[in-house]
Amino acid sequence: VIITDNCIGHWAAVYVAEKLIEAKPTKEKPFVLGLPTGSTPLPMYRKLIEFYKAGIISFENVITFNMDEYVGLEPTHEQSYHYFMYENFFNHIDIKRENINILDGMASDYRAECKRFEDKIKKVGGIDLFLGGIGPDGHIAFNEPGSSLSSRTRDKELTTDTILANSRFFGGDTEKVPKLALTVGVGTILDAKEVLIMVNGHHKARAMYHAVEGGVNHMWTVSALQLHPKGIIVSDEEACGEL
Ligand code: GLP
Repeated sequence: VIITDNCIGHWAAVYVAEKLIEAKPTKEKPFVLGLPTGSTPLPMYRKLIEFYKAGIISFENVITFNMDEYVGLEPTHEQSYHYFMYENFFNHIDIKRENINILDGMASDYRAECKRFEDKIKKVGGIDLFLGGIGPDGHIAFNEPGSSLSSRTRDKELTTDTILANSRFFGGDTEKVPKLALTVGVGTILDAKEVLIMVNGHHKARAMYHAVEGGVNHMWTVSALQLHPKGIIVSDEEACGEL
């Protein structure tokens, strides 16, 4: 889907709302959403909050799993994905705290934490809709170039490119950006019943080319979406500059 009026977030929010209305989630049969952070999904979160406040949708029976979290940032740290999610979304909707799942970047045993997360996803019956963004190098979640396309939730060292790209949130200081993250794997994302990826800006045009016209390639992990029976990319025109 190519969006011409800079409304990727609006489009995605309407898509999510339609899914929720159609699914009519209950306590016994909740709707399971995979959620991203980053600047790209912010307008979607704002729109979803608007829909909730207007009484159009409810998150009472929605379970969420976040894609990733930095290692070593307290949940109260302004750049932690915990903080981001509560600040920009969870604090403004009727989701139940116990239905929110975010990887614990402060866990002493990463492996056990990642296994717990995968087990929990299985226990609730899998993710119905995984929403995401990408990095300029085509990473989904923190599946950096070279990640196995069948990878599961694990710790991942961030590349210099990602540290540089994300340093804008840390006052431009690359030293302050965590070097390690916990992230769902490409395999975890592909297991979702549907995947919707938002891509914007000319700085992501190369990644978009690899996602759509290149071959499936572990150096551009977003290209794995080509393997998914229901993979959707919502993009603006600038990001399509190399197609
Ligand atoms: C981080 C996140 C990704 C996100 C990317 C892009 O690296 N781990 O999940 O897609 O940032 O962020 P932005 O939307 O700000 O460009």
